[in-house]
Amino acid sequence: MKRKILVTGASGLVGVDLVPALQAKVGKENVITYELQEPSKPHDHIFELGDIRDRNLLESVIQKHGVTEVYHLAGLLSVGGEKDPDLAWDVNLGSLRSVLFLAVKHKLKVFWPSSIAVFGSTTPKQHVPQHTILEPLTIYGVTKVTGELLCQYYATRYGVDVRSLRYPGLLGYKAPPGDGTTEYAIQIFYEAIKKNHYECYINRGTILPMMYMDDAIKGTIDLMEAPAEKISVRMGYNFSAIEFEPEELVGEINRHNPNFKCDYKPDSRQKIADSWPQTIDDSKARTDWGWSPSFDLRKMSDVMYEGIRRKLNE
Ligand SMILES: NC(=O)c1ccc[n+]([C@@H]2O[C@H](COP(=O)([O-])OP(=O)(O)OC[C@H]3O[C@@H](n4cnc5c(N)ncnc54)[C@H](O)[C@@H]3O)[C@@H](O)[C@H]2O)c1
Repeated sequence: MKRKILVTGASGLVGVDLVPALQAKVGKENVITYELQEPSKPHDHIFELGDIRDRNLLESVIQKHGVTEVYHLAGLLSVGGEKDPDLAWDVNLGSLRSVLFLAVKHKLKVFWPSSIAVFGSTTPKQHVPQHTILEPLTIYGVTKVTGELLCQYYATRYGVDVRSLRYPGLLGYKAPPGDGTTEYAIQIFYEAIKKNHYECYINRGTILPMMYMDDAIKGTIDLMEAPAEKISVRMGYNFSAIEFEPEELVGEINRHNPNFKCDYKPDSRQKIADSWPQTIDDSKARTDWGWSPSFDLRKMSDVMYEGIRRKLNE
């Protein structure tokens, strides 16, 4: 069957890397992007403007383009969610309910990203198993746990082929970082290059799971292309690559820029970071559909530094 892919939240950090990867797979004419605002830069995407909470509009876009798959990225992140919990609930869960409802009606395959924000302070800190305690402290985490349960429900009740990953902090340079907690690890590169200085809102010693964007995109597409019989988890798969504390990242940046200095001034985001685990056991993703990352801390840091340096010089 011909694949027609809809990507919501397409201008965000994940979308700007996912869209070209999908276009390369299925052709530009078969990827439709959907966003709240017109893209700021000239583009050659098929583009639909709209609020993801508008189910009728979403359905009309799906019908107009004969969509067969949805990568549903639109949403609020952990820090943005705390600023407006009601909006986070509406956008993150209202839209997922619409996508799953329309998936039943129009026989759509769905990818929906979950997050390490499903975990909370009662989850083990190390090697978090696939099945564990999910008691998040943030509204963002609450929407991700509820969303995972909803995905599992639609898979078992209606047979929807919905697949999900618990993304760790994702590090990319093509779009500006969103309003999350792990985004310090992106902002730090911009400030190191622009000012030789960064005031880090996450404290030294705080280890968090992270992943370079190319690995995340590859894992996302591999998951979606895996045969259905390989998918044994219909909530979010644990999904892991690297973990580090801010000082380790500073050390990597100092290899490129020895004058760079980082100060630490933790704020309310530290509490969110403290509630998340340090290392994740993703063996289920590895055995079920062959997940394996390629970027370690050094390789990620080199690509991020060079990518952001080039971008700032443009
Ligand atoms: N970035 C990460 O580190 C990370 C980690 C875990 C999970 N995720 C998940 O991945 C997905 C994408 O994250 P991202 O980093 O690209 O986020 P982002 O904030 O960079 O992008 C989200 C996009 O959603 C759009 N959006 C927000 N509200 C909308 C609405 N009402 N209607 C239409 N569009 C709307 C925004 O315009 C934005 O472009 C999210 O579901 C997020 O929870 C991201």
